[in-house]
Amino acid sequence: MIAPSILSADFARLADEAAAVKGADWLHVDVMDAHFVPNLTLGLPVVQSLLAATDIPMDCHLMIEDPGRWAPPYAEAGAHNVTFHAEATDDPVAVARDIRAAGAKAGLSIKPGTPLDPYLEILRNFDTLLVMSVEPGFGGQSFIPEVLSKVRTVRKLVDAGELSILVEIDGGINADTVEQAAAAGVDCFVAGSAVYSAADPGAAVESLRRQALAASPHLRA
Ligand code: DX5
Ligand code: ZN
Repeated sequence: MIAPSILSADFARLADEAAAVKGADWLHVDVMDAHFVPNLTLGLPVVQSLLAATDIPMDCHLMIEDPGRWAPPYAEAGAHNVTFHAEATDDPVAVARDIRAAGAKAGLSIKPGTPLDPYLEILRNFDTLLVMSVEPGFGGQSFIPEVLSKVRTVRKLVDAGELSILVEIDGGINADTVEQAAAAGVDCFVAGSAVYSAADPGAAVESLRRQALAASPHLRA
């Protein structure tokens, strides 16, 4: 699955930018609050408008403090998947429960420096694990390959039937990095600058998908 990130799109033309990637599996929307991360993007009103403007399932990545309070409304609004950060709450399982109760899939995200092990036990409460491969906050940064060990760990558990979760990666995914991520076991690839800086964003999505499929044994299985 390819999830273009509209962080690299033209914010004045979001409906057109969504239409430009209509072959995408998910549309990745980065919500930043200038507290959890040092950047400010958009919030619920923009997501509500965008939901009305596109049929692509929306993948909301909340880089915000207090997700227990702010995450469920994104699910109620109709987002397909709502991901929040493990570092932002003391009770991720409760937040996941509320997101699911509001009708969306629940995702847990961890920053590059956050270890996976303390969260392995709670992953059964989630539909998605979003492994950050850059420091959250900005698009266009370089991929951090060390995070792929976390992907491999979860891939093994899923392939062994011990866990059912979708593994998503976010940050620095492009033609040079998508194959190593695919080979490590990623299911869903977020790409911002690689898609929206391309002359044809739709073609960039298809090209990333072809590369990922060719490089990943589990996606072809
Ligand atoms: C960064 C965001 C990413 C960002 C990725 O904090 O979570 O989704 O848009 O952008 P690229 O693909 O350019 O690294
Ligand atoms: Zn993101």
